[in-house]
Amino acid sequence: MKPYTMSKIKDSQKRMYEHSKAKVDLFARYLSIYLNVISRVPFIKKIYLFDLFAGEGVYLNEEKGSSIITLESIRSHYLSNNKKCPNIDIWFNDSEKSEIDEGVFKIERIERFAKSIFKPENVNVKYTKLEYSEVIKLVIPLLENMKDSERALLFIDPWGYKEIDPKDLKGITDNGKSEVLLFLPISFMYRFADKALADDGFIGGKPLEKFLTELFKDELPDTNNQFRFIEEVKRKFKQYLGVKYVDTFTIERGSKNFFCLFFFTNNKTGFVKMLNAKWDLDEESGRGFRVRNQDQMSFFDEVEVADYLSMIKEFLGQKEVVTNQNLFDFGLTQGFLPPHTKKVLDVLKKNGELELISLDGEKVKGFYLEDNHSRIIQIKLI
Ligand SMILES: C[S@@+](CC[C@H](N)C(=O)[O-])C[C@H]1O[C@@H](n2cnc3c(N)ncnc32)[C@H](O)[C@@H]1O
Repeated sequence: MKPYTMSKIKDSQKRMYEHSKAKVDLFARYLSIYLNVISRVPFIKKIYLFDLFAGEGVYLNEEKGSSIITLESIRSHYLSNNKKCPNIDIWFNDSEKSEIDEGVFKIERIERFAKSIFKPENVNVKYTKLEYSEVIKLVIPLLENMKDSERALLFIDPWGYKEIDPKDLKGITDNGKSEVLLFLPISFMYRFADKALADDGFIGGKPLEKFLTELFKDELPDTNNQFRFIEEVKRKFKQYLGVKYVDTFTIERGSKNFFCLFFFTNNKTGFVKMLNAKWDLDEESGRGFRVRNQDQMSFFDEVEVADYLSMIKEFLGQKEVVTNQNLFDFGLTQGFLPPHTKKVLDVLKKNGELELISLDGEKVKGFYLEDNHSRIIQIKLI
């Protein structure tokens, strides 16, 4: 990886680069899906949206940041749903001064842009310029006291990872009603993990050590392979937070320099929709978006499909009875949708390694990979 120079870092704060755009695009897609799903659940009376590292609003290259995307998504939702939208409370926070407008806080810039975007009357926006460590102390109690008829979506998009404490994330997700999109510079964490855990004199490594120790306790993460590291962080997050679903969207900037958008939720429908949005964005692997030169090799390609095939084989081999519903759910927890599971099953079937049996013992041909499909079949390795 080429190091980013200070001037490049400053420039990336004024102009939205391609990899940041990929992240915001995924957020935008998910938000519009989220609004659509939630607005159709009659008992949900209110949504809270939090963007706690909200950024500049609009960047010098006219790309829009997450805050503006949020307001525009709500406006589109309202206009395409007979001028209706759920009751929404939005909280935008960013503690820093703008890199674009001298003497102005980023949050003030956002507020200025927001004035020109139509907002339905039942949508309220709050703007603060608090440090994340302060704002999160106000947000968690609010989430803890949420009613059953309320839901929350949080976008947590820091520059690095030093502010991020897994304990706060637990505070956020413990109510079972919050969904979180968290962006982490996973390559930096991966590279410095060993040193942070082993070297007490490595002062800059303290936040990382704290983060990893909280998540991994006495275990050590796999620091030999970046993909395994991501998978382990994902698995540990799932255990630690006790959420039903965790997924990642990996964005590659340059060669082998990965950023990860982690997604935590307890909501199956939301999760399926998120996977759809993710796979739409990257039809090849669904694991993420690449920003790299044509001639650079990535190790995305070789890993994914082969890995999923062995995961399915292992899953089928471990259990005595595996149904189509079990396999549908297993796919989801691994970040795969029915078409991907079907691809793998097609291979196994073609190789004569698979048997499909209906409840009355008849052999069947289809896989019926749908949530709550009326037909239940058993899928067996032979
Ligand atoms: C990656 S940027 C966010 C980009 C934004 N999501 C967007 O789409 O435009 C991270 C933001 O966090 C803000 N920030 C950095 N440290 C912070 C802290 N301790 N508390 C709150 N905001 C912070 C920075 O000012 C910066 O705008």
